[in-house]
Amino acid sequence: MTVPDPLGPTPIDRPRRLRSSAAMRSLVREHTLRPADLVLPMFVREGAQENTPISSMPGVLQHTMDSLVRAATEATERGVGGVMLFGVPQHKDAVGSGATDPDGILNQALARLRSELGDSTVIMADLCLDEFTDHGHCGVLDADGRVDNDATLVRYREMALAQAEAGAHLLGPSGMMDGQIAAIREALDAAGHLETAIYAYTAKYASAFYGPFREAVDSSLQGDRRTYQQDPANGREALRELELDVAEGADLAMVKPGLPYLDVLREVAAASPVPVGAYQVSGEYAMIEATAANGWTDRDRTVLESLLAFRRAGASTVLTYYASEVAGWYREGLPAHLREFQ
Ligand code: PBG
Repeated sequence: MTVPDPLGPTPIDRPRRLRSSAAMRSLVREHTLRPADLVLPMFVREGAQENTPISSMPGVLQHTMDSLVRAATEATERGVGGVMLFGVPQHKDAVGSGATDPDGILNQALARLRSELGDSTVIMADLCLDEFTDHGHCGVLDADGRVDNDATLVRYREMALAQAEAGAHLLGPSGMMDGQIAAIREALDAAGHLETAIYAYTAKYASAFYGPFREAVDSSLQGDRRTYQQDPANGREALRELELDVAEGADLAMVKPGLPYLDVLREVAAASPVPVGAYQVSGEYAMIEATAANGWTDRDRTVLESLLAFRRAGASTVLTYYASEVAGWYREGLPAHLREFQ
């Protein structure tokens, strides 16, 4: 047996000292999660008598109006920062008429939530036409079948007004049209909706990680979104989009998807004068659920670790389908196996 040489090489720096006990780790922890950091995306389906499960997103539902109200109320009681609503209309057409109809499912749901919840949470609206168009694109099409940027802005202005009038606090334009923030801001201000804020989807990539969302909103998309959403290969243009969105009046900026784009999030967060958020999208949720269902990962810890990663990278808010559940964990006090996330 060899005895270690007491005078042999010994490290001078010992970072392990700060990891030596739970108390020590807690003392030096840099980032934490709070329920108020989390925003819950929710789906509400027109004309439904019962909730519809989304098979590729186990545990996530297309709500009926009543169940939406119940779930949003519960999330609010648990202290989530907000809810982001998506509508699933019964009828779709080329211009997405349901998006601007005050009786359309999304506007009805916004009005209902605002009357039930008032200002006790932040009520957010997805501002995009894709759920409402029969071709599934985020805008209207020109004669050649291409997404017509400027004609779409006209529809976004109308949609912004409908959502503000329904009672949304924060509008989330997710269509990646050029000039969309300026167009919406101008329409809101002209109508006196000075306090309605805009959460710009600033860097939104044409991502395969949105796969399960297509089922969640019964999307009828033909083709893809690569002429308006960003190329996954590009980082630099996220900063250009940020500059434009801020100049046009964005109150918050978002990066989406989340984990595959943490580098973009970090750069955007470092450069942004407005708060920055991240969206942990449907495919990220599905991956966590699928690996956990196979017993390959510890679900709850994977969830919290993934959310904490966004905070570490610079996100103030995180949109996640786990928002209500995780807020509930914090409300009740984290169970022993999750204490390191306290
Ligand atoms: C567009 C929109 C999408 C998502 C949010 N808003 C779909 C898309 O751009 O293709 C995806 C969200 C998710 O995957 O969780 N209205």
